[in-house]
Amino acid sequence: MAMKKNVNTHLGRVFSDRKWIIPFFASLLVSVTLTITAFFGLYSPAYDDDPMLLDTVSLVKSKESTDYFVESDIRKSLKSKSESRNEAPRFAYLISGTKGDSQRMMRVLQAVYHPRNQYVLHMDLEAPPKERLDLTMSVKADLTFKELENVHVMAKSNLVTYKGSTMIACTLQAIAILLRESSNWDWFINLSASDYPLMPQDDLLHVFSNMSRELNFIEHTQMVAGWKLNQRARPIVVDPGLYLSKKSDLAVTTQRRSLPTSFKLFTGSAWVILTRSFVEYCIWGWDNFPRTVLMYYTNFISSPESYFHTVICNTDEFRYTAIGHDLHYIAWDNPPRQHPRVLTMKDFEKMVQSGAVFARKFAKDDPVLDKIDKELLGRINRFAPGAWCIGSSDGGADPCLSRGNDSVFRLGPGAERLHGIMQTLLLAEFRSKQCSLGR
Ligand SMILES: *[C@@H]1O[C@H](CO)[C@@H](O)[C@H](O)[C@H]1NC(C)=O
Ligand SMILES: *[C@@H]1O[C@H](CO)[C@@H](O)[C@H](O)[C@H]1NC(C)=O
Ligand SMILES: *[C@@H]1O[C@H](CO)[C@@H](O)[C@H](O)[C@H]1NC(C)=O
Repeated sequence: MAMKKNVNTHLGRVFSDRKWIIPFFASLLVSVTLTITAFFGLYSPAYDDDPMLLDTVSLVKSKESTDYFVESDIRKSLKSKSESRNEAPRFAYLISGTKGDSQRMMRVLQAVYHPRNQYVLHMDLEAPPKERLDLTMSVKADLTFKELENVHVMAKSNLVTYKGSTMIACTLQAIAILLRESSNWDWFINLSASDYPLMPQDDLLHVFSNMSRELNFIEHTQMVAGWKLNQRARPIVVDPGLYLSKKSDLAVTTQRRSLPTSFKLFTGSAWVILTRSFVEYCIWGWDNFPRTVLMYYTNFISSPESYFHTVICNTDEFRYTAIGHDLHYIAWDNPPRQHPRVLTMKDFEKMVQSGAVFARKFAKDDPVLDKIDKELLGRINRFAPGAWCIGSSDGGADPCLSRGNDSVFRLGPGAERLHGIMQTLLLAEFRSKQCSLGR
């Protein structure tokens, strides 16, 4: 016992005798380093290598240029991208439909087809898988689509609730796909199976060639006190399409909410023609505002009639690019009901005179569509032909079977009509009313 203790203390002394050496040199090293650092730190010009100080200095220096902020870089790149393009424009179309719409969607697609453009077809989840497959097969079977690969069918469909936020989510998804599929389109156009064009794409492409690629066509007014504010902005709705697998109606809660004070609400037509830079701003979300507004609209009735409108009119970079027209001919009953009037043969003249690019809404296979095909689009075969169709049309053959230069356009009377309304829309007097107070 005693021996063991002795051994222990002896061993302990041996170790502790040598142990002091390492801590001693370690602390010596540390204190020498500290002294040297302190000495040079005091006498050297600190702002040379102090990152914090550097930041404040350069911030002060570039106060006027605002070059320091990441947002200004993004804004600059946005501008240079859109300014540097002067070739003929390209459009990116979304054509959406539901159960029973596959043939109409195909007809709309053919009527607005042009090799320069991109197309995405979306059939909502209500359509049976067989119908979606049929649509996919007829797109696949078309030789022109196959060769140019500019028509895409969305295989994964969304459940879309009428007037719900799933509607805007679906549009945003389609835009995201179009942004990925092609890097060089200029405008996004939203159509449904009950829309139809009133002029060939050549006319539209020609008129838009001559226009600033910064203009957004979005019919809008500010929501001011009145029934619309009370019926749209105050109720809180929940879209079951966001989390249920079966379609059901919007759920309206008993609570009501106050009006937003950090931005103003705008509303208008759900049919839009938007520039690439604006939809990039909405989709890529480098500014938080489009995302915040999207979240706000989750619980809003009819978000597609208001989302883009509110984003564009509350954003300084884009406010002046909003032209208050959707380039659609839409007829309303007087007084207006919930849905626009179905257009028939009787409306033909008015449609043409309006100068609009598209009209809605049409019943499936209505005879007026045949009249539009014949008199406005010159559509006998698959497509509304343009200057790119250089094949023979002898004996009713399809001239679009052989393709020519797609940046040459053949001008029809549609271009003149459209040019007419464009001139009115671009007038300073009209543009000064953009994003201002509603009627
Ligand atoms: C786009 O088109 C569809 C028609 O299928 C419509 O329901 C929707 O509200 C439109 N607008 C937007 C902004 O999504
Ligand atoms: C379109 O081009 C013509 C000349 O080709 C020009 O006179 C006209 O001002 C242009 N219009 C616009 C809106 O730029
Ligand atoms: C197509 O037409 C445009 C405009 O006329 C012209 O600039 C271009 O060189 C043509 N492209 C080809 C491949 O011929």
